[in-house]
Amino acid sequence: MTLIRLITLSLTQQFGKQELKRTPEPSPITTGIQAVKGYDQALRTKTSLLYIAIIEQIRRLYDRAAAKTAIELCCGPGFLSVFLAEFLGYTEVLGVDLSPTMISAAQANARAAGLTDKITFQEGDVTKLHSIPSHSFDTALFSEAAHHLHDLQMVASVIAEMDRITKPQGLVLISDIARLRTKTLADAYVAYTSNEFLKWGLNAHLEDFKNTIMAVWTPKELVTTIPRKSKRRWVAYTCRCLPFYQIIIGVPEERKEPIFRPIQPDSQNRLLKYLCDIWRRENGEAWTQNTLREWKWFKLLLLQFPKEVPIPKE
Ligand SMILES: C[S@@+](CC[C@H](N)C(=O)[O-])C[C@H]1O[C@@H](n2cnc3c(N)ncnc32)[C@H](O)[C@@H]1O
Repeated sequence: MTLIRLITLSLTQQFGKQELKRTPEPSPITTGIQAVKGYDQALRTKTSLLYIAIIEQIRRLYDRAAAKTAIELCCGPGFLSVFLAEFLGYTEVLGVDLSPTMISAAQANARAAGLTDKITFQEGDVTKLHSIPSHSFDTALFSEAAHHLHDLQMVASVIAEMDRITKPQGLVLISDIARLRTKTLADAYVAYTSNEFLKWGLNAHLEDFKNTIMAVWTPKELVTTIPRKSKRRWVAYTCRCLPFYQIIIGVPEERKEPIFRPIQPDSQNRLLKYLCDIWRRENGEAWTQNTLREWKWFKLLLLQFPKEVPIPKE
């Protein structure tokens, strides 16, 4: 992609009209073996950049000494649950997904990481969390799944429940891809990801990804789901320059500033090192170096200098 084209796309996504309408996911629960296989290969693809950003953001937001218990809603293959235990020191992580196939994949991933004593995966519907007592977890995470829910009211009630089941001093984090503004932008994003999905034979995953980018919420839509009655302070961010990804944070109560510690240097980022080893083995050095350059940009634009999304008042 030429620089001029990238700048044009970036300006359209920042300032253009929201022309691309939302199409809900055709099958919100991911049960097909091929589709699950696709998600389960995420660590060898650039999807893993999203995982590094989320884990790094949680590390910056939450005092590790205090972090013990976490729930991951719509955990899919469970990588984030595994990373919470492996790289952020959480000792009791519960991953919930309605797909039995995903739960099996997640359990296999926890076994492979040797973390079955710290992580439990359970089949369940995240729109029905009422049996979980209030203030049960230090952290509640809902990643790349808000777009699986049919409407914003459902998303709002899930986030209200996340707020309820998280301790007042705990952290709530929601992240997802943001809907692009035009079909041209959506096509460019599909083109960017399709080569590597096809290289790994993840044709079904590519079709899933196309559905995802049509189903995701715009940042303006997603911020409307932030609970009005919450005692927490909430902040919402997208990537500066190319707002294709978004994070909403329910800040631990009594914390004045959301961010607790600075971004760690890449040389100290254990998850990045772990993924680099996978990338080198699976994709080679040139791919790894290219992906590391993309990580530096992504980190800068999403974590270091993010664009804040205004949260509407009542
Ligand atoms: C795109 S995957 C996200 C996986 C994971 N959170 C990640 O970031 O890698 C979305 C997951 O949401 C699950 N899902 C959709 N609706 C759900 C619901 N109501 N309750 C539980 N899981 C649901 C799907 O089965 C799928 O595994």
